[in-house]
Amino acid sequence: MALFAIGDLHLSFAVDKPMSVFGKEWKHHVEKIYKNWHKKVKKGDTVVLTGDHSWGRNMNECREDLEFIRELPGRKFLLRGNHDMFWDAKKTQRLNEQFRDQLYFLQNNFYVYGEYALVGTKGYCYEGKDTPEHFEKIRKREAERLRISFEAAKQAGYKKYLMFLHYPPTSIGEMESPFTLMAREYGAEKVIYSHCHGRERYQDSFLGYVEGIEYKLVSSDYLKFKPERIID
Ligand SMILES: [Fe+2]
Ligand SMILES: [Fe+2]
Repeated sequence: MALFAIGDLHLSFAVDKPMSVFGKEWKHHVEKIYKNWHKKVKKGDTVVLTGDHSWGRNMNECREDLEFIRELPGRKFLLRGNHDMFWDAKKTQRLNEQFRDQLYFLQNNFYVYGEYALVGTKGYCYEGKDTPEHFEKIRKREAERLRISFEAAKQAGYKKYLMFLHYPPTSIGEMESPFTLMAREYGAEKVIYSHCHGRERYQDSFLGYVEGIEYKLVSSDYLKFKPERIID
């Protein structure tokens, strides 16, 4: 039994969205994911998918992509990415009802793997696209959502945490953020994130140990489309 993570599958069974703009390694990426996932992940394993599952703009356009994920081996926990238009954060409970016992959506709640509580939210970082006011507003809201997730786990008696984000925990050049501070506050052992794909973005944020916390990038191309083993 093992816990894996991988993010940014960027499936598009129902819409035409070639991923080759992100580099030649994305050629046939769905076939690579399918093959590697079946090789590594067994029925009793768990996989956290850290967002950007689908290019579809609504549930109808995402259905086949979610179906593909649903049929892969293991129990699947999903995080919201910036491209996951099918997922309204405020309606996560509805998604969890719709996909009951098939897919598990992580937002304002937590899941369990062994003695660990798996907590998370989309997160946010500055990418030069929005005004400082808008950036602060979104980041603050995401930090509040992350706290709800941590508090739910803490109140249920969990003391060990693995924290998941879609966005990198820091903006380029930052040495800390509300997300890294919260990881420290609750004593998260690892922070796992994706969103940074294309070679030139792999170094955007923390990689390896920072102040005792392990930061791991799990964008699918960074992982060569192989789910990464997080703990046994
Ligand atoms: Fe992405
Ligand atoms: Fe993303």
